[in-house]
Amino acid sequence: MSKRPAIALFAVCLLSAYAAAQSVKAAPAVGNAGGAARAVIGPYVNRVDSSSARIVWISERGTPPVRVFVDGGGQHLEVRSIPSEIASRSELLQTAKLDGLKPLTRYEYYIGSEEVPPRGTFLTAPAGQAPFRFAVYGDTRSYPDRHQVVTEAIAKENPAFVVCSGDLVADGDAWDQWKAQFFDPARSYLERATLWPVRGNHDGNGTLFASLFGLPETRLYYSFNFGNAHFVILDSQLEDKGHAMLRWLKRDLAERHAEWNFVFYHIPTFNVGGHTSDWGRDDYLPVFESAGVDFTLTGHSHLYERFLPIGPAGKKPVIHIVSAGGGAPPYEVRPSPILAGGIGRSELHYCVFEINGNRCDLAAKRPDGSVMDSLSLVKEGGVYQADVMAAAFETEKAKRLEFMFVRPTADLDAIPSPGQKVQVSVRADRFPENCTVTVRQAKEETNWEVEPQKVAAEENAFSFAARAPADFKLGGKGFEPPLRVALTVEDHGRAYSAEDVTIYFSQDSARKAVPIPSAVDIPYMPRRVTVDGDLSEWAGVKPLPLPFDKKETSSFRIGWREDGLYCAVSVKDATVKADPDAPWGSDTDGVDLFIEKDFARSRGMGENASEYVFSPAPESGPGPGHASVVYGRNRSKDSGVACAWRRSKEGYSLEFFVPAAALEPAKMQAGTMLGMNFILNDDKVAVERFFCDKKPENRRSPMRWGAVRLAK
Ligand SMILES: [Fe+2]
Repeated sequence: MSKRPAIALFAVCLLSAYAAAQSVKAAPAVGNAGGAARAVIGPYVNRVDSSSARIVWISERGTPPVRVFVDGGGQHLEVRSIPSEIASRSELLQTAKLDGLKPLTRYEYYIGSEEVPPRGTFLTAPAGQAPFRFAVYGDTRSYPDRHQVVTEAIAKENPAFVVCSGDLVADGDAWDQWKAQFFDPARSYLERATLWPVRGNHDGNGTLFASLFGLPETRLYYSFNFGNAHFVILDSQLEDKGHAMLRWLKRDLAERHAEWNFVFYHIPTFNVGGHTSDWGRDDYLPVFESAGVDFTLTGHSHLYERFLPIGPAGKKPVIHIVSAGGGAPPYEVRPSPILAGGIGRSELHYCVFEINGNRCDLAAKRPDGSVMDSLSLVKEGGVYQADVMAAAFETEKAKRLEFMFVRPTADLDAIPSPGQKVQVSVRADRFPENCTVTVRQAKEETNWEVEPQKVAAEENAFSFAARAPADFKLGGKGFEPPLRVALTVEDHGRAYSAEDVTIYFSQDSARKAVPIPSAVDIPYMPRRVTVDGDLSEWAGVKPLPLPFDKKETSSFRIGWREDGLYCAVSVKDATVKADPDAPWGSDTDGVDLFIEKDFARSRGMGENASEYVFSPAPESGPGPGHASVVYGRNRSKDSGVACAWRRSKEGYSLEFFVPAAALEPAKMQAGTMLGMNFILNDDKVAVERFFCDKKPENRRSPMRWGAVRLAK
């Protein structure tokens, strides 16, 4: 503005009005030559390189092309916006394409008229090497006020561009959310910084995402260059059956010649807290490692995790960072030996990178600008400085140790009485081979007494003594109170410590503590039952007794034949509710059937358990209805599952069949026991349950299912 005094004066007069227009909640006005058009969203700048840029905003329907004026580096440009349709919306996407720009130049742009202050500025990419700064953050969805706290801090850093690592909004198919949750709060930095977005799992089917960011709908991955750095954006939501994105990535990384290489995507490859995801480990990670990628930056788990460098032995490793502190609710962090600092951070934050030649500085900052984590890399001869290289983990070792301190499982040599000392044998397949482990009592008051002990891990286990507390008992999740210890693990001169690790007891140990439930006999059906919802074939079959009091249920009948299990359910419920999303709907009437096939008295849905949800489908009339398998180890074996329903005088009946193949390894012969949990749901309430015990405290036991025996 300073080069045009007349406009500058005018601008000063308008300053207060301009500031008000920039406030986040108000839709800032965009004057056009005719004066009436308003920006519904934006403006924002994306797809900037060293000679071109795109200024974009969303206008109301019917807005004609608008004049855009651009000043910078002694150039004065004037272009007209091109309005384009947005899928199934009446609003228009206005795009001003700029070409012939100068590298490393800050441009200011005016929309509609030069007689107003500039709507924003942007910086073009350097043609060659020049120091620059950019910011990264993610998971900005759902809480615009929290998002804005972060964007205001990012704006103060004055980055050339910002990468948002996905989940910009809660539902990317919901148009209104883009303005409220993302673009309005992000105005703080969008006035000066280019935006490069990543698609997250919340960002919808891609239609609106593609429109807003000028991408082809079927290809939301891309790359760009800035100075001596190359940036790749992947789409971890893509169902990439033909590996098109992977092939593109290999080509893209082979063609680039940059000192620094960053890859951004939403679902992390390494992640200890929150979702514990491992996206792309088998196919993308080897490409990152062989192509010399420096950083992966992801989101999805709402926390901050910087992993120690990970890579093939002797080669330059990759630094993996999860940064999802843009506003979405923070997630629980967990300790890990492969995390810098030993554990992540669950705070609002953003990352700032400064690139200067062969040096890269990272600072992860809280919204008040205080530094939460930092790292400086200097690259020479294709590797980082010695201390960084020395801290690196070989990839396979990192995979093994990642969850070392998360829920280690132990076996007990005996079930202790309260106050009794027992030997706790911890399974160490996630610990370094042949390490030594110092076990101490955790600082937390646990009631378990643990003397400091240094023990050796052999054959993937280490063992230590602990005294059970006076109030020790079997509770809903296992043994209570939990055993918490401090661990220091030594391995070839490296030591890893965690101050508070909860040891979980194995199912084998829990089983020793829980008596075998008395099984209920279910009859052999004299002939095959037709699964049609008509229960007349069940006339002679007694209702199922409950395991704890042998009283018959009012609703369930089960029988067996060599070909599988047959079930009949009669329900007194005149208003049948079915959710179109069944079985995922929470409001669906019907039954949940859990079958544990090998009768190992599982603590829950183990490998040999299946869950079926059967619900009537009122809209499709009587007869065959839903038969939905939501869990099964081998779904192909579940393919013969059949279900039908019918209205009855007092409500409805359900009839279903689970074939013998779906019940393997159990044999369909007299004497076989199956674990079973059978729940009838009506209006979100479990109105009848087949459990091992009627006492609520025992139902909460880890072995809470009942059992049936196939009788002759
Ligand atoms: Fe996500």
